[in-house]
Amino acid sequence: MRVLVTGATGYIGSHTVVELLERGHDVIGVDDFSASVPSVQGTIEQISGQPMTLVQLDLRHRDGVDALIGSVQPDALIHFAGRKFVGESVSDPIQYYGRNVTASINLAEACQRHGVDQIIFSSSCTVYGEATILPVSEANPIMPVSPYGRSKAMTESVLSDLAAAWDDLSVLALRYFNPIGAHPAGILGEVPIGEPNNLLPYVMQVARGERPELSVFGDDYPTPDGTCIRDYVHVVDIAKAHAIALDYTTRYRGFEAMNLGTGVGRSVLEVIRAARDVTARPIPYRIVERRPGDAARVYAQAKRASYHLDWEADPDLHRMIADHWRFERSLSSERRLAS
Ligand code: UFG
Repeated sequence: MRVLVTGATGYIGSHTVVELLERGHDVIGVDDFSASVPSVQGTIEQISGQPMTLVQLDLRHRDGVDALIGSVQPDALIHFAGRKFVGESVSDPIQYYGRNVTASINLAEACQRHGVDQIIFSSSCTVYGEATILPVSEANPIMPVSPYGRSKAMTESVLSDLAAAWDDLSVLALRYFNPIGAHPAGILGEVPIGEPNNLLPYVMQVARGERPELSVFGDDYPTPDGTCIRDYVHVVDIAKAHAIALDYTTRYRGFEAMNLGTGVGRSVLEVIRAARDVTARPIPYRIVERRPGDAARVYAQAKRASYHLDWEADPDLHRMIADHWRFERSLSSERRLAS
């Protein structure tokens, strides 16, 4: 298939492009390089042994999006591009509604105009907000608690409404839990910009000695060791789900959402212990105040993806961290500074 991938040089986008190229798809990537670098294209091509096309575009520009989709005429769109930090979305909501919602509306409108009737959308478990029923299934209410979460939920609504109005359209929203890890080749992974927001990138930088210690945000949660529990899932498993999902969206019509997680919850202290095992580094940490907005426990029920996509994520936390660590160690300080 001819697949247009937005956010193609970003963390999950780049791993998905590798999977698509390895399965023989023709990939046209688009990115504005606001959170990635164009040289990721070379890494993707090196791992997959296949060429891809890469276009620079800010998806908030409606005419540019329309021209791109009109000229590429893809069979399917996989839409990753967007901002993803909860805290940043609270302080700069307009950026999130612009980059995440306006951009998605532009894409949806251009897909409708040019007859692109298969869309896979990069959503997040953040759409559930404070999950009250665990594990979190797709039947949980959609109650996002941040502008970031609302930007994902709004985009799902736009796509769902479009699917209701346009009989031929097939939309699959994939709701990721906590993607970590890197491609096992050791040259493709996430390069955080500045101080990492997420747990594992921070842990890795402490392991490398670039930061003195990790702050653990609270140990008084109602969990066995008092630290928050999350469902960490390997980025390559997430990427594979998108490649499989292309077959699924060819077969059915309408809007559907699926969780992508392992179903296994891990505490922050469990992650630190696993990272110490993998890296053989001390990884000092200090317990600090809770981070506002953190839920105590979030982990997925991913039966729907298992049933419809025949997809399951490997819950081996050590393997995820080992792949992440291999990539971290390959990163030159120039590359880190350039990001
Ligand atoms: N944590 C720390 N110290 C840190 C960073 C994180 O203790 O320096 C803890 C957090 O408090 C949380 C856990 O590690 O308990 C995981 O935190 P992350 O920031 O890695 O991930 P979140 O679960 O907060 O957020 C992730 C994605 C978001 C998404 C959200 C949905 O990063 O994009 O899941 O729940 F919105």
